[in-house]
Amino acid sequence: PRTAIVVVAAGSGTRLEAGAPKALVGIDSRSVLRHALEGVFAAQPMQVIVVAPTGFEGTVETEVRAAAGDRRDLATVVTGGASRQQSVAAGLDALWGDIDTVLVHDAARALTPSALIDAVAEAVDLSGVIPSLPVIDTLKRVEGDAVVAAVDRSVLAAAQTPQGFPRAALESAYARAVAAGEEHTDDAALFAAAGGAVRSIPGSARAFKITTPADLERARVLLMDTRT
Ligand code: C5P
Repeated sequence: PRTAIVVVAAGSGTRLEAGAPKALVGIDSRSVLRHALEGVFAAQPMQVIVVAPTGFEGTVETEVRAAAGDRRDLATVVTGGASRQQSVAAGLDALWGDIDTVLVHDAARALTPSALIDAVAEAVDLSGVIPSLPVIDTLKRVEGDAVVAAVDRSVLAAAQTPQGFPRAALESAYARAVAAGEEHTDDAALFAAAGGAVRSIPGSARAFKITTPADLERARVLLMDTRT
């Protein structure tokens, strides 16, 4: 395959209050990471780089083996860093072979449909591509407890992953961010800071990020309810 996906799973998950790295917390009988990887391995065949929390490489390796089936040879496990950006950088360093498109995906978006992964991979050209959803809540600009202004949500979108990029441009954008000492909140921001264009395609409600105990509960409900 000419496409690779870097799945970052090295976060500590302190907001989940589960006492384990977030990716290794169970949703049902399977972990957040296992669900994420099942989505990844159900997409078109691609190289898969899984970025593990320090000290949990063996556990992650086991999850990869369970999810990959006959695609085990396409997967590599590497150790992550102190920030998400550093974890992605570690994943990019592990790419091998003739890859020209790289997707970056949060393991925490465990229920992301494989069709969304394929749609992002398909849409990448010279621009980066992110899935996004319209913002539902009414947004306010606040200073302390003072509501200062309403914000026009029609011009806003909530960014999801996987985010896809042409490999060479993403790698130079990462090198540039490191040289400039910049930390960005997502890869699209890092890519744009280097002058790259980024387009949006429709995201998926199932690609929400598991961050809090309530998010984990939502994932449990979605997995139980076959109507969704
Ligand atoms: O913390 P947050 O939910 O924003 O993390 C998003 C994704 O980045 C998660 O899948 C998490 O495992 C990953 N991450 C990482 N390395 C870090 C921090 C976060 O791989 N140091």
